[in-house]
Amino acid sequence: MRSKVRRREFRFFDRQPPVPDAREELVAGLTAPAKAVSPKYFYDEAGSQLFEAITKLPEYYLTRTETGILEDNRDDIAQWVEPDACLVEYGSGSSAKTRILLETCRPAAYVPVDISRGQLLSSAREIYEDFGDLAVYPTCADYSRSFELPSIATGLRKVGFFPGSTIGNIEPAEVPDFLRGVGRVIGPGGRFIVGVDTKKAESMLNAAYNDAAGVTRAFNLNILRHINAIAGADFDMTKFEHEAHYNGERGRVEMYLTSAERQTVRVNGAFIEFGRGERIHTEHSYKYDADGFAILAEQAGLRWLEARRDESCHFMVVLLENAGD
Ligand SMILES: C[S@@+](CC[C@H](N)C(=O)[O-])C[C@H]1O[C@@H](n2cnc3c(N)ncnc32)[C@H](O)[C@@H]1O
Repeated sequence: MRSKVRRREFRFFDRQPPVPDAREELVAGLTAPAKAVSPKYFYDEAGSQLFEAITKLPEYYLTRTETGILEDNRDDIAQWVEPDACLVEYGSGSSAKTRILLETCRPAAYVPVDISRGQLLSSAREIYEDFGDLAVYPTCADYSRSFELPSIATGLRKVGFFPGSTIGNIEPAEVPDFLRGVGRVIGPGGRFIVGVDTKKAESMLNAAYNDAAGVTRAFNLNILRHINAIAGADFDMTKFEHEAHYNGERGRVEMYLTSAERQTVRVNGAFIEFGRGERIHTEHSYKYDADGFAILAEQAGLRWLEARRDESCHFMVVLLENAGD
């Protein structure tokens, strides 16, 4: 029998910040003393496709390891999502891992939140077609800013889901603030399931971000094409090189685009000078041990309930609970 809260519905919610905000943010980052662009700008249509290709690379252990953890523990993890809850996924991408949850749990609604509109819509539509008794509300938003959930979700218990080690792209000092925002979305007693990449051998990390087929290189360089499209810029992708390495002291993989020569690039009317070898920082991917991550969660008022790991402890899927009342 259908419960009162269950209905089959598909509705798109557009909460994407306006393009002028993106242009200003890009120019501010590219004119800073250490040039930087937020990793959220990787994800235009091409960037999302390139990321999907990365997830299938032999060197990129992250996706297959996290997927394995979800599959191997599907019955336990099913208990983490209450029936008739609203599952809110941060950075849903292809929603491939969500399918493992939806096969075992019975949320009433699924709210995938992503900045990459095209992939968000197509993945959400496929979920809607494949899971009969589910309301699906794709929400195009930047989760690094506060955004409104579809009001339809009001009244449902929320469970947040943030796989992919995407939390590793947030600076540790900013993680508690981000998690406090999540805490407001899921409410007191709400749960948050998050995929966290762990510290491991440097060689394994360096290989994962420097694959032999050059897909990560193409993904990194694609950010320049995206900036050209949204900020009237004239980056020449052939004049920048991909660089990624693990910084053990900081516990993070650092990714950059390095200027192959002296050059001037126009971005939204500003002229930006690059010296030969000067870098644009595009991504940090922080790796955590359990204690380090639990401390950040606690600072945000989220309690560590439990975690599942693969045999080699290369990745962990952590269940947090909003301890607030
Ligand atoms: C590393 S991918 C992970 C995708 C998928 N969750 C997985 O586990 O394979 C990061 C995803 O988050 C999205 N994303 C990145 N930054 C975002 C932001 N600030 N707001 C909303 N979505 C964002 C990207 O578009 C992309 O789909």
